[in-house]
Amino acid sequence: MRAAISCLLLVTLGISQLATAFKENEFKKCAQTSFCSRNRNMQQGANFDIVPGSIVLNTATLTATLLNKGFDKHLQLTVTSHSDGFIRVLVDELPDVGRYQVPSDVLVSGWETKKLAFKEESRTSSAITLSGGETKLVLNFQPFSLAISVKGVPALQINSRNLFNFEHRRPKQENDPAGFWEETWMGHTDSKPKGPEAISLDLVFPGFQHVYGIPERATSLSLRSTNGAAPYGEPYRLYNLDVFEYLDDHPFGLYGSIPVMLAHKKGLTVGVFWLNAAEMFVDVVKGRSEVGTQWIAESGILDLFVFTGGSAPAVLSSYARVAGTTALPQLFSLGYHQCRWNYKDEEDVKEVDGGFDSHEIPYDVLWLDIEHTNGKRYLTWDSSLFPSPVAMQEDLASRGRQMVTIVDPHVKRDSGYYIFSEAEKAGHFVKNKHGSDFDGWCWPGSSSYLDVTSPAVREWWAQQFTLDKYQGSTKHLYIWNDMNEPSVFNGPEITMQKDNLHYGNVEHRDNHNLYGIYYHMGTAEGLKLRGSQVDPENGDRPFVLSRAFFSGTQRVGPIWTGDNAAQWSHLKVSVPMLLTLGLTGLPYSGADVGGFFGNPDAELMTRWYQLGIYYPFFRGHAHLETQRREPWLFGPETTARIRTAIRGRYTLLPYIYTLFRFANTSGLPILRPLWYEFPENEDLFAVEEEFMAGPAILVKPIVAPGVSSVDVTLPVGARWYDALSGAAVPARSRSQRVTLDSIPVYYRGGNILPLRERPRRSTAAQLADPYTLVVALDDKGEATGSLYVDDGRSFAFQRGQYLHRDFTMKSLKLSSSKHVEPGVPSGALTVPTTIERVVFLGLPASKRGYKALIGAKHAVPLEPGPLTMLAPQYENALVLRKPGLPVSHDWEVEIVAL
Ligand code: NOJ
Repeated sequence: MRAAISCLLLVTLGISQLATAFKENEFKKCAQTSFCSRNRNMQQGANFDIVPGSIVLNTATLTATLLNKGFDKHLQLTVTSHSDGFIRVLVDELPDVGRYQVPSDVLVSGWETKKLAFKEESRTSSAITLSGGETKLVLNFQPFSLAISVKGVPALQINSRNLFNFEHRRPKQENDPAGFWEETWMGHTDSKPKGPEAISLDLVFPGFQHVYGIPERATSLSLRSTNGAAPYGEPYRLYNLDVFEYLDDHPFGLYGSIPVMLAHKKGLTVGVFWLNAAEMFVDVVKGRSEVGTQWIAESGILDLFVFTGGSAPAVLSSYARVAGTTALPQLFSLGYHQCRWNYKDEEDVKEVDGGFDSHEIPYDVLWLDIEHTNGKRYLTWDSSLFPSPVAMQEDLASRGRQMVTIVDPHVKRDSGYYIFSEAEKAGHFVKNKHGSDFDGWCWPGSSSYLDVTSPAVREWWAQQFTLDKYQGSTKHLYIWNDMNEPSVFNGPEITMQKDNLHYGNVEHRDNHNLYGIYYHMGTAEGLKLRGSQVDPENGDRPFVLSRAFFSGTQRVGPIWTGDNAAQWSHLKVSVPMLLTLGLTGLPYSGADVGGFFGNPDAELMTRWYQLGIYYPFFRGHAHLETQRREPWLFGPETTARIRTAIRGRYTLLPYIYTLFRFANTSGLPILRPLWYEFPENEDLFAVEEEFMAGPAILVKPIVAPGVSSVDVTLPVGARWYDALSGAAVPARSRSQRVTLDSIPVYYRGGNILPLRERPRRSTAAQLADPYTLVVALDDKGEATGSLYVDDGRSFAFQRGQYLHRDFTMKSLKLSSSKHVEPGVPSGALTVPTTIERVVFLGLPASKRGYKALIGAKHAVPLEPGPLTMLAPQYENALVLRKPGLPVSHDWEVEIVAL
């Protein structure tokens, strides 16, 4: 209720007063949370020892019994070596008391059985040493601890500080301490029928100075210690929450959780993933020669994956073997999205859509927020504002555009609303602790919440999206899932009571962080179902944006970073936030361009678009009470700058779509911290002011007003080219002059970028366009790159209906060949498209210039510039015009000095 009231206040007060409105004291700190405080303050754990003689080594699996002497309680330890580059460490009670485990459908299947035998190196009365591939493990017995090294380099110590604790199930007794069986927070009492069942664990990263990950929070890329001054005196929290008016530079956990952390040092990256969906706190303390962490979860089991591949890409692809890779998005969804709470009616939609065309700004999707519904009954329309939704969508589609509507998980308790009455009858709602349907407050008022943790409920939910069920929908309509943490305005910390009950009698405490992904999954299944009806042969890839997330969300759809603000600091923090998501397997993400709360001025708007075109998910969005801010409302100069930026996004789409293909096959991120690409350069390990978009583009966003020059670091070990002029720029830190027209962007030598340069109104209008290749040479005069093409919308690519080419420049020969990736079936698609320009950067000076020999037939002179068709600059590029090279076939072009 408080949140609902603050929402109303927000509407009436205006936005300018909101900068300080984050109400920290409405959210629990560790000290106010019984399981966290009792484990965080523990000096030593419960001293779990390995029971002598209990060790059994069976090929790739070691099992042992742990004993907590104080309580005479046993645990089962299982350590398994997997051939996909990881070790799994499981601890559960012995005998099994049925503690909650994350269901297997959150992950992918198939990896469990791929194991790599352990070799026993040695065994004494106090330790056993095992090896598997390049990984070595030393298991100490008293107390139990595990030291893992990779290629002889120390990687991770588990329980070396003896903070491991495992609160066993127990019967309730008269004199149990406070907080064990009941806890109260701001008037909400959490009955804890199962009593205490927290797990604490220390993970030490020896020789490391930097750890990354555990999103989502608006904070630095390299995680700061949690023993500092406020607000960094609190552990990082993983508990999906609707945090109203969140602050930047704050450790507080936001809408989604991924319990994954990467540690990186020269020569080694290691990753950990604790598969657990309960509330979790993580302390990070950086010492001189190590980073120590303590992880505390409220319930569940210890199920820890340690990724030992050695490099960041290897860690991410091993993680992807378990949690899955990014679903290949529809091409339209990589274009620009225009959103607002709310586009008011059909007339408004028409005007905004027309505004893009009359200002010649491309865009692909127009979004409708909650006000389009009949009284916040999702999957319905307010018929006075939207009397003809089908015609409206078809009109957009006639210009190649799509629409997105919002659908939230709270269901208005109204027996006249078909979703409510059907779901109620079928028993599809989450239950309160007494077993009746839980009643919580959200946008529509009193609401029930679909129990999407049940496969049957998700199946029913999916069926609501077929064209016959979702009245007024068309095949051009896609979905936005919001408030799925779940947000409950009158619940504790604006979410659901932990003693609520889900399918299988599971307490909400155990699976809280899964609610969002399960709702997202159900919705995406719905769009798949619709797609299979519309196109039975090839289907239609779903597009569903979610706010809440967990490990595995990448297989379902994109997320965005929620309600940021129109402030420079929020523009700035969007970079480390998105980099962190990329490093934890969820690269398809973006921040609201312009900032959700408040009113950006023309300069902030300009800078946000100039950065936003590199966000994997690129959407402008604004709060209900903000001033209108479509790209043409800030005067002609700003309109021109935003037009140039958005057109730049469309130019880059072949490159971006190809990056998504690699995210899809191998789990690689789209946006990357500099250290990811330059892992041996220690100066870069904490850099978050600039980033790489894929391997080839370095971006330096401008995140402050009135900037006329900025310091840019161009890492050594590469050759760099200014992406506007094509001029070679020395690799080092330099001061770069900037104007409002652009932000500094550089191409990294050694890369070939595929582009599409003709200005069009949407991705659909680009489909037949020819390509440009930008060949940015390295010091050896070499470069590589690739281009992935498919129909951009269906699942036909999974049956080989795609084209993937590799381009190579070596010894002045540029060639195209079929891309081959181990384990990926090769593509069989051909397209009639050609390459219309090849731009060479960094060819050695030649007095008389160069010519290109295309096949055996003809010679074409290379001409100076322009580097891009959109921003002509003549001096630094040599261009091969109209070579007519087929995209689908092998070819070779020889460059010869005249
Ligand atoms: C909260 C979301 O974060 C925001 O993007 C949306 O506009 C509002 N809910 C209203 O649906």
